[in-house]
Amino acid sequence: MAGIDPPPDVSTAAAADAAATTSIRPIRLRSIRTLLMLSILLTCMMAAFLTQMAGMSHEQTKMNDQSSFAAPHLQLRHNNDSSLSLSLSMGATTDNEIRRNLSEPEGSLPSEAINVTELGEKAAQQYEEKKQQEQQQQQQQSNNRPSGVVYEYIEPPPINHTARAQLRSKFRFGLPDLTHTNTNNNTTTALCGIVKDAEAYLDEWVDYHFGLGFHSIYLIDNSDKHELKSWQDKRRNAGYSVRVLPKPGTHRQMYGYHMCAAEFKNDHTFMAFFDVDEFLVLKKHIRVDDMLADHLTEGSLAISWFIFGSGGTSTYAPLPVTKRFLYRDGGWKNTRHSHWKNVKSILKLEDYGNYPQSPHSMKTKRGGWKDTNGGGTFDKIGSVNEDRPTDVAVIHHYKYLSPKEYHWKSCVRKTVDDKFKGCSSDKQEAVDSFKGDVFDDSAWTMLKKNVPKYAMYDEFEDFM
Ligand SMILES: *[C@@H]1O[C@H](CO)[C@@H](O)[C@H](O)[C@H]1NC(C)=O
Ligand SMILES: *[C@@H]1O[C@H](CO)[C@@H](O)[C@H](O)[C@H]1NC(C)=O
Ligand SMILES: *[C@@H]1O[C@H](CO)[C@@H](O)[C@H](O)[C@H]1NC(C)=O
Ligand SMILES: *[C@@H]1O[C@H](CO)[C@@H](O)[C@H](O)[C@H]1NC(C)=O
Ligand SMILES: *[C@@H]1O[C@H](CO)[C@@H](O)[C@H](O)[C@H]1NC(C)=O
Ligand SMILES: *[C@@H]1O[C@H](CO)[C@@H](O)[C@H](O)[C@H]1NC(C)=O
Repeated sequence: MAGIDPPPDVSTAAAADAAATTSIRPIRLRSIRTLLMLSILLTCMMAAFLTQMAGMSHEQTKMNDQSSFAAPHLQLRHNNDSSLSLSLSMGATTDNEIRRNLSEPEGSLPSEAINVTELGEKAAQQYEEKKQQEQQQQQQQSNNRPSGVVYEYIEPPPINHTARAQLRSKFRFGLPDLTHTNTNNNTTTALCGIVKDAEAYLDEWVDYHFGLGFHSIYLIDNSDKHELKSWQDKRRNAGYSVRVLPKPGTHRQMYGYHMCAAEFKNDHTFMAFFDVDEFLVLKKHIRVDDMLADHLTEGSLAISWFIFGSGGTSTYAPLPVTKRFLYRDGGWKNTRHSHWKNVKSILKLEDYGNYPQSPHSMKTKRGGWKDTNGGGTFDKIGSVNEDRPTDVAVIHHYKYLSPKEYHWKSCVRKTVDDKFKGCSSDKQEAVDSFKGDVFDDSAWTMLKKNVPKYAMYDEFEDFM
């Protein structure tokens, strides 16, 4: 800009002009100055007013867009004969003026010469895109659950109560009344587990725990494409209170347990957190609610593991796991499995203390962890209890299954935490690592008692 004088500012020029002529005609000059300043003020006000008007119209346009989903200047209407009609709003009326996208150049508005068929397609495409955007937004909002956990929320189909009424007779103690809730002072216990590639073992696990009087079972479906949705829908239509929540990805076990507890903490009194290879076995009670009434007044109850070995098997057989594996570790030092002191937990939901530190224990805001003796010698994160009481309740942990299944589990499938766990380069070594010493058929006996139809499997011998 060097060498060029800046254009004189209007007010400066007026002031200089005024200063030069003041002595000659003071009154007339003063009024000119006032007029000049007034006109500047007016111009500014007009500009501000117009800007605001434009802004308002823009807001209106946005609102109209959102309610109609249609492109601003193209309104799609369905006639009574359900054919699609297209109306072009050209800014002629106030209403149409509002619908115009003010930031769009005039030239881009459709003219009469335009190919209407093509326009129809475009408008329909825009309509679809808008709709999809809106749906995505709704999806994101609904995935962000009030409980703070995030997952793809899919409303489950209703439970078929006609079917449920017939189902009761298939269980030794019937099935819990689904109208019983935490708020009408009825005790209900739920079970939560995360599952991935476990369909061969799922139904037995679910039936077994309904047999113990569990009210509802929540499964975190860790498959990539929500494989268990149809299983859930069929089970619900057969009268079972199951619910499957999709959560793909790795390292979801603790998040999965957190999902169940956070989402359903007001619906049940207690919630157990077991995997599909873990079966609760009661030694002094016949129903889970009764055991918990005696042993879980606050916080979380730690239940000891019995670890079952491969027994004499070598491969899979299409028979119940509780029937196939009848040998476990013992209570003595030389028969104990290396993980003998691990526990899994059942939580009093009103004491839920948010995201857990370990899948073995739940975080509590009151009461802490206790075993069935009301005490326990726990590590920092509550994953082991040195005391290992086994007289009231234990968890049968079918860790090994048959050698071939164990190899697949350890070296092919990976854990839900995306690890190859216990995968040995020498297949036979891994397989032989644990067979179990102590004969224990209590889970199988209990399953046949509580869900009598399983007794038919005694007709089948396991040759595997
Ligand atoms: C469209 O349907 C409405 C209600 O169904 C009816 O009142 C109206 O007369 C119909 N209009 C035409 C053009 O058929
Ligand atoms: C208006 O048109 C411009 C340019 O085509 C576009 O970027 C903008 O998103 C449109 N605004 C609305 C509210 O549709
Ligand atoms: C209008 O566009 C459609 C689809 O692009 C085309 O099939 C049709 O021939 C066009 N009509 C005219 C009059 O150009
Ligand atoms: C509910 O279950 C009953 C009994 O099994 C069956 O007849 C009925 O078709 C089921 N309802 C639906 C909607 O499938
Ligand atoms: C539930 O029990 C508590 C005390 O144990 C009582 O105060 C409350 O009124 C009961 N609620 C219902 C719905 O029975
Ligand atoms: C459970 O709730 C029902 C109402 O759904 C009520 O009639 C019944 O008395 C309750 N049972 C107990 C033990 O509180």
